[in-house]
Amino acid sequence: MWYPKIAPLLFIFAHVQGQQFPPLQSYNVDPTSITISGISSGGAFATQVHFSYSSQIIGAGIFEAAAYPCALVEEEFLNCLGTPYKTNISNLIRAAASLADQGLIDPLTNMNDSKVYVYHGMNDSVVPFLSSGNVVDMYKRLGAEVHAQLSINAGHGQPVDGNGFGGPCGEHNADYFYINECGYNAAYEMLNFFYGENLTRPEKGYQPDGLIVDFNQLEFSVYDPIVISMSPKGYLYVPKNCQNGTTKMCRFHIAFHGCNSNEFLGGYAAAYKTHYAEVAELNDIIILFPQSAITVINTAGCWDFAGLSGVPDYATKRGKQVSAVGRMMSRILGENR
Ligand SMILES: *[C@@H]1O[C@H](CO)[C@@H](O)[C@H](O)[C@H]1NC(C)=O
Ligand SMILES: *[C@@H]1O[C@H](CO)[C@@H](O)[C@H](O)[C@H]1NC(C)=O
Ligand SMILES: *[C@@H]1O[C@H](CO)[C@@H](O)[C@H](O)[C@H]1NC(C)=O
Ligand SMILES: *[C@@H]1O[C@H](CO)[C@@H](O)[C@H](O)[C@H]1NC(C)=O
Ligand SMILES: *[C@@H]1O[C@H](CO)[C@@H](O)[C@H](O)[C@H]1NC(C)=O
Repeated sequence: MWYPKIAPLLFIFAHVQGQQFPPLQSYNVDPTSITISGISSGGAFATQVHFSYSSQIIGAGIFEAAAYPCALVEEEFLNCLGTPYKTNISNLIRAAASLADQGLIDPLTNMNDSKVYVYHGMNDSVVPFLSSGNVVDMYKRLGAEVHAQLSINAGHGQPVDGNGFGGPCGEHNADYFYINECGYNAAYEMLNFFYGENLTRPEKGYQPDGLIVDFNQLEFSVYDPIVISMSPKGYLYVPKNCQNGTTKMCRFHIAFHGCNSNEFLGGYAAAYKTHYAEVAELNDIIILFPQSAITVINTAGCWDFAGLSGVPDYATKRGKQVSAVGRMMSRILGENR
């Protein structure tokens, strides 16, 4: 869901602030293998992270989200969220070019080296289906290689293939953290597209046996319940071959959950119920899952797709959430930022 609903706030603050988590470690990852993805508010946020760091990120998976940076362009804001068929892509590109000229995001010319996977269920009742048409058009106009899956009659959510968890494909499955059984493994199709079409596909029932590592997100952001909306805790999935001390160089992906699906609300569903962990384990991909927080004005724990954490900063390297993710990315790579 895009918009907040009421949650038991006091309990949640007590829960998240009372715990300590170890620092995020560096890993032996290929710095030319960085890809990202996100769904719904996390998909819009993924475009923000992609445009901000396009010199480093080689692929982006945008699931059921709006084109960049539509919340920033006054005359396009309502189009993006409600009437996407009215969107004028030229206005979005001009706004992005202006941010790039100011050095607030990486040069748009990087997009001609990017692979972009776009997914949207045709029966999405939350984010208008045609918003993904805008995502496709904009990336194509910037020269990206786009692979779009826009022909599944699915409700709003992440499509999976026989993992025994998702709700009925065509429906709105809030009770299943928006995971839909569609006979389609989007995590695999996307990562396989990014990494050269030769990844091992998980068999039905495969159980990945790498590690989930909880880490302290607070050092990358400030836990500010009004503005930042990031949890004290993030987590990552580390395949056996990528754990500390191995000489194997792994790939690196970052995945952003949608609203109502952060770790507090959905546990590790975003890793284990979506095929992400399975594809990661079989193909040596470390996956970072940054986590939003539930706050007074963001009770569904959405990522900031609409300027809550400052305009125009929210969509750029200066954004409080975007820069926090940039610093996590650097830590994994063993760089200082
Ligand atoms: C989009 O906006 C630009 C100016 O910002 C205008 O020149 C162009 O005609 C518009 N395109 C459409 C299809 O309305
Ligand atoms: C991408 O754009 C840059 C800058 O315009 C150019 O130098 C480069 O050749 C382009 N690469 C591709 C693959 O088109
Ligand atoms: C489309 O979604 C609505 C709302 O979840 C649902 O009632 C309807 O059955 C769905 N249609 C199909 C064809 O699945
Ligand atoms: C794909 O992987 C198989 C098995 O590892 C290998 O034999 C083959 O050469 C690879 N193909 C490509 C196009 O990389
Ligand atoms: C990784 O290995 C280094 C050196 O052996 C050690 O200092 C560090 O604590 C290890 N990290 C984890 C997460 O095990």
